[in-house]
Amino acid sequence: MHRLKSTANQLATFFFLLALVILPVASPATAQSIQEMVNKAPNGLALTPPMGWNSWNHFQCNINEKVIRDTADAMVASGMRDAGYQYVVIDDCWHGPRDANGFITADPQRFPSGIKALADYVHSKGLKFGIYSDAGRLTCGGRPGSEGHEYQDALTYARWGVDYLKYDWCNTGDRNAQEAYATMADALRASGRPIVFSMCEWGTAKPWLWAKNTGNLWRTTGDISDDFAVKKKGHDWEHPVTMIADLNEPLWPFAGPGHWNDPDMLEVGNGGMTPDEYRSHFSLWAMMAAPLIAGNDIAHMDDTTKSILENKEVIAVDQDALGIQGHRVWKDGDREVWVKPLTGGARAILLFNRGEAPAAITATADQFGWPAGIRAKVRDLWTHKDAGRWSNSISATVGAHGVAMFRVGP
Ligand code: GLA
Repeated sequence: MHRLKSTANQLATFFFLLALVILPVASPATAQSIQEMVNKAPNGLALTPPMGWNSWNHFQCNINEKVIRDTADAMVASGMRDAGYQYVVIDDCWHGPRDANGFITADPQRFPSGIKALADYVHSKGLKFGIYSDAGRLTCGGRPGSEGHEYQDALTYARWGVDYLKYDWCNTGDRNAQEAYATMADALRASGRPIVFSMCEWGTAKPWLWAKNTGNLWRTTGDISDDFAVKKKGHDWEHPVTMIADLNEPLWPFAGPGHWNDPDMLEVGNGGMTPDEYRSHFSLWAMMAAPLIAGNDIAHMDDTTKSILENKEVIAVDQDALGIQGHRVWKDGDREVWVKPLTGGARAILLFNRGEAPAAITATADQFGWPAGIRAKVRDLWTHKDAGRWSNSISATVGAHGVAMFRVGP
């Protein structure tokens, strides 16, 4: 009797355990959601390219808590937040020393109220808060890096309410990039707070080949400079917009929801380019599903800058839920056609003129594999006007260093 009962118990336990193993696998919904998670992101974040502002391109190391608060205020007052810009990110030079236990502190002169108070302020404006560190011993600006302190720093960021970490690659010696970024990704996961992970490794170790399950975005190039095609100033590691676009463009197959190629932050409004060049810069970034991280002085931007950064029709191309990075489909000298597939079978089409004089450019259906006779509407995304029906091509005379950008679709 006793023996029988125990066999029955064993059988019951066996079937119970079997059910635990089989049920989740047998449920198609569960299998599908696991696959979706794997396809999408290491942490489920950044399903469209992140949008926000970062202090570096304009302020460099000249930052303090007032600059960040004023920018957060201006993000709201200027309409940037409502246009979709979400993350307010402090770049290099916010750091003070590590304390006696190795925890990082903020520079007490520049950030006397501390980072937690600043993050709270940014959050109170309906925005999210980001911060910067480095995988080496020191940041590029010579502040303490996170090497050997990854878990401690991730914990600190989570306690402060950080939503986004940009993680740089200076002073890393012979450290392996895959290991260094995976370590910080693990530390961020272990912190328990959802934190977008922005890898700033400059493309040196080709992160697009291995970082899909590590970071949400990875820099593909050196730093951007506020120049269109010819660098007028800056260091060896800085490149003009057209050069960055050319380096980032061929990497289009590696981008997708949760894991984006990052051709660096925007220079729109920083004064080194003409309005037409800034429109080209912004359009190219949108076509490439690039993170749209403004890098200008938001609190003092002029109306032209605002009209570019807040062009919601161009932003919608960048933020399209399909998450396919567009690319160049035709080139003849300085004249180019770029195409980005959008949800619902639509396409964004960019006519780009790199030349010094106006040029006629035509995009045709066969350049991007559309059959003849597709019925669709054409919308001009810079003049904000309907431009008639699609008839297998679009032509425009495009100004020097300029673009014409269209959405063709239902
Ligand atoms: C590197 C990065 C830049 C910026 C600076 C800060 O150059 O690529 O984007 O973060 O460091 O020092």
